Amino acid sequence: MGPGVLSPCLLLLGVWVCALPAGSVLPPELSKAEVTGMFKDFMIQFNRTYRSPADEEFRGMFWSPPPHTMHQDPRRPRKKFPKSCDWRKAGAVTAVKNQVGQECRSCWAFAAVANIESLWNIHFHQPRNLSVQEVLDCSWCGVGCNGGYVWDAFTTVLHKRGLTNEIAYPYTGRQEKCHNLNKYEPAAYIQGFQTLPGDEEEIAAHVATEGPITVTLNSAAMKHYKNGISKPLVKNCNPDQVDHVALLVGYGDVKGRQYWVIKNSWGEDWGEKGYYRLYRGRNACGITMFPVTATVNRIGVLGHKVHCPP
Ligand SMILES: *[C@@H]1O[C@H](CO)[C@@H](O)[C@H](O)[C@H]1NC(C)=O
Ligand SMILES: *[C@@H]1O[C@H](CO)[C@@H](O)[C@H](O)[C@H]1NC(C)=O
Repeated sequence: MGPGVLSPCLLLLGVWVCALPAGSVLPPELSKAEVTGMFKDFMIQFNRTYRSPADEEFRGMFWSPPPHTMHQDPRRPRKKFPKSCDWRKAGAVTAVKNQVGQECRSCWAFAAVANIESLWNIHFHQPRNLSVQEVLDCSWCGVGCNGGYVWDAFTTVLHKRGLTNEIAYPYTGRQEKCHNLNKYEPAAYIQGFQTLPGDEEEIAAHVATEGPITVTLNSAAMKHYKNGISKPLVKNCNPDQVDHVALLVGYGDVKGRQYWVIKNSWGEDWGEKGYYRLYRGRNACGITMFPVTATVNRIGVLGHKVHCPP
């Protein structure tokens, strides 16, 4: 790490984006402006200081800003997307994991790793459980169990030239010293990551045509969730106060009631076998606030068409 790397990391210190189930001590909530501002500062500084460890051909692909700012321009034609999509049916989603054994605010690492696992699966048809612990231990900014950001996870995976298998580098629920990664064979790679527009239709179109993505949301309604489509009132799940990160794996509707399908990291006993269905179409719990995804492509096979089962 060069001296310049320090500044983006300092911006992250003391900031938590991760919630634990009911009964746990909650991290402070952040306003939308704070998170957006943090991210912009981080990216500007990161861009100046980060040196690509990967091939020249991937330069410039590390981070793509949203095609337009956080909100949809009403004059833009809407993208067409299928009525429903569920990546679980394609076998592209690994088993639900559990972050909470050790009271570790590691949702950001779980969501980022789950995103990479799914994209790897979609593009290479290789099921993989990847190492969350590696991300936790080796992340650039070292926020670990105090919470963190998915983009920090992605920059870590880029910097380390891939991610090890879960079995080789298993989850302990505590932040530890980063292992010597030369000992391990990377099990998956990414080419970069991208921020998506904060619009539910654009998000659905992206999920249907590219794969699962990470979303940042207010976890208030998740604390007492059992099953069904959660539709909390704004006052009970403020969209401007997000504190959790999870993986969006699909969407659908039941009798006209639209929902998102979200893979959580609170174990299979939580919610619908570890999944959460949240009302879609009203920015419930701030789901559109920060959609981010890694980019995974087979080298030389850009634009590989994938299909999400309905
Ligand atoms: C990153 O750097 C490139 C080239 O140096 C520049 O075109 C781009 O606008 C920068 N992005 C950010 C977010 O600063
Ligand atoms: C991933 O881990 C789960 C347990 O969490 C296990 O059931 C599954 O077989 C593993 N998959 C692979 C591909 O190793």
